Amino acid sequence: MSPSSTSSPPPNSFEFRCIACGRVSESAGQDFRCADCHDLLEISYARWKESKPNVLSLKIEWRNRRASHAAADLSGVWRFRELLPALDDDGSIITLREGNTPLYALPQSARLTGVRRLFAKHQGMNPTGSFKDVGMTVAATFARRAGFRWVACASTGNTSASMAAYAAHGGLRSLVLVPDGKISWSKLSQALDYGAVTCQLRTDFDGCLKLLQELVRRAPVYQLNSINPFRLEGQKTLAIELMEQLDWQPPDHIIVPGGNLGNSSAIGKALLEMLTIGLISRLPKLSVIQAEGANALVRTLRETDGKELVSVSPETRATAIRIGNPASWKKAIHVLRATGGACEQVSEIEIAQAKAEIGAEGIGCEPASAVTLAGLKKLIAQGFVKPDESVVLVLTGNLLKDPDYTIDFHRGDLLPNSSEANVLDHLRRPPIVLDATLDAVICTLEQAEKS
Ligand code: F0G
Repeated sequence: MSPSSTSSPPPNSFEFRCIACGRVSESAGQDFRCADCHDLLEISYARWKESKPNVLSLKIEWRNRRASHAAADLSGVWRFRELLPALDDDGSIITLREGNTPLYALPQSARLTGVRRLFAKHQGMNPTGSFKDVGMTVAATFARRAGFRWVACASTGNTSASMAAYAAHGGLRSLVLVPDGKISWSKLSQALDYGAVTCQLRTDFDGCLKLLQELVRRAPVYQLNSINPFRLEGQKTLAIELMEQLDWQPPDHIIVPGGNLGNSSAIGKALLEMLTIGLISRLPKLSVIQAEGANALVRTLRETDGKELVSVSPETRATAIRIGNPASWKKAIHVLRATGGACEQVSEIEIAQAKAEIGAEGIGCEPASAVTLAGLKKLIAQGFVKPDESVVLVLTGNLLKDPDYTIDFHRGDLLPNSSEANVLDHLRRPPIVLDATLDAVICTLEQAEKS
């Protein structure tokens, strides 16, 4: 697992750097932690200091690749390979044509919030329905290149679906550890269909991740959680592609959900690297939104000024972000501070409302993604986001990832113990059971027209 070595190393030859003590190494152990201080590693590109990539030719090359049929060019991740860890052979990548996700305007939500330029970068349009694919293509490729037969992850569902798909596609075996009863059936069904050995552990996500850390020390399995810095390199391309879609004019704000905090860290890393290289001339503010019941980062910043992690016992129906002990909290705090972003929390009702509003745009997303719109409303109320600023919400998962949530919402069963849930009534569209007669359908149509 060492960077490729040739007589003249490519500009994107890389090394591992500890985020706490700065120790640099050519290879990383299976826990992806610093051999000295045990903090997390990140991938860094030392050669960019000597010779920055030529940004104009990069932009032209990336655009030209859109017309190519080569597998590496069809991928919305590997299209940007100059900013990813160097591979000696482009033919060795495991790709499902991830990335190239749409940037949608959100006109109705823009009217509701008063922010005129509001967009959604929809990572739920990736091959397995979540942003995990853009990281998985890179990490799975490096796993196979390192000679591993087995890959493994702990997951709230999306990572496992994505890992299982990329492993299967790349001829690897995969082991999934998920919290029993706390992930959506859709995500579980994906892992099963892609052939993963799927273990439902009687614990939460944090318990699954802890066990995985012990497992990788004992067995020859390669971990594909976002602790793995190759994952974050792939996830960086969300931000690169977004800037390309905006003609390299950064928005004022990017808002992202926070769970284990890998994605916010990756997006922030991309923004900082793009600024250093000169691809963009200013930084958007990157803000992280958590569910109130899984608000470890919010509490860490408020109660310890970001010095000590405050772990929580997570509880939220947005199961993707039901995480109490986020692994990448230090990386996330670094990018929040470097970009001047905010960190907020939103309630279950606010999440449900925002999800229904995104659905009503004809776009839809899973509950964890909807925290972004709910958080935006709070940031506007606080004056942190101004009406004349441009905002991009990162929608991390597809609507179809959690149909139970959506059905419960529309039937009025989502928050049975909440006395305030009636504020959601105007957004509910429960299915209507009718006799199979023309009159019944016309009558329903007329009532709907009046409402
Ligand atoms: N949104 C969705 C849909 C997710 O699946 C996750 C995380 C997040 C947001 C949070 O991203 O962890 O990088 O801060 N899902 C992981 C999983 C933990 O196992 O699928 P994060």
